Amino acid sequence: MSVQQAITRKTISAIRQSKGRGNIVALTAYTTPMARHLDAHADLLLVGDSLGMVVYGLPSTLAVTLDMMIAHGAAVVRGSTQACVVVDLPFGSYQASPQQAFAAAARVLAETGAQAVKLEGGIEMAETVQFLTVRGVPVISHIGLMPQQFNAVGGYKAQGMQADAGERILNDAKALEQAGAFALVVECTAEAVGRRVTEALSIPVIGIGASPACDGQILVTEDMLGMSGTRVPRFVKQYLQMGTMIEQAAASYAQEVRSGAFPAIEHCFGTKSS
Ligand code: KIV
Repeated sequence: MSVQQAITRKTISAIRQSKGRGNIVALTAYTTPMARHLDAHADLLLVGDSLGMVVYGLPSTLAVTLDMMIAHGAAVVRGSTQACVVVDLPFGSYQASPQQAFAAAARVLAETGAQAVKLEGGIEMAETVQFLTVRGVPVISHIGLMPQQFNAVGGYKAQGMQADAGERILNDAKALEQAGAFALVVECTAEAVGRRVTEALSIPVIGIGASPACDGQILVTEDMLGMSGTRVPRFVKQYLQMGTMIEQAAASYAQEVRSGAFPAIEHCFGTKSS
């Protein structure tokens, strides 16, 4: 028997059955070590295209490629055994046609081992969502603030603040549920919109800056760990100041190397202490 851990991942149907419980825990992960740390605590690990900004220092998610998503998706699958792993389809890999979306999603599922894909877009993407789901690709839809529409929308602003815009988001949500999405991510909306969408749908709604009434919550892990610098969105709660902790550790290391305190004899081979 190999030393590989048994994989007992949360299934898509288990996520679906969590509707109405308000307890779905989701976080982003981009690497094997981070997935290992988060796996026991999260129902769902999202390999988000936010990795473009968080890992690669890009100004937006627009330059993220399918190959980047596949490399990170596979890394997260290797680092997890419990959580459901979902990979974002990046900008330009799915909007042209349902066929293009299927080709991208098929690569993601086959080459990463992830269970589902997530894609941005409202009613205009419903045909694509249906095309994927009837062909065996589980889909999470993402509405509200859609970072891939950064240029079209002119920045990152809260959505659904006016009644008509809120109504449009609700209609988008209903169309995507009808098309077969098994869950919905709603990002950065008026609280009442996140609440109404959650109440109106029979699939789980996972909020990020949406509403406490959602069926679950997701955050970018580096944001909640305090590793994202000074530009932290209002909807983020920081549970740690890891950026500061890393800087302190680096400063201690530098000081010990420069003073000769590190390495000590116990860090050396072929000495009495080894
Ligand atoms: O890319 C991402 O990390 C996301 C989450 C913010 C939901 O889509």
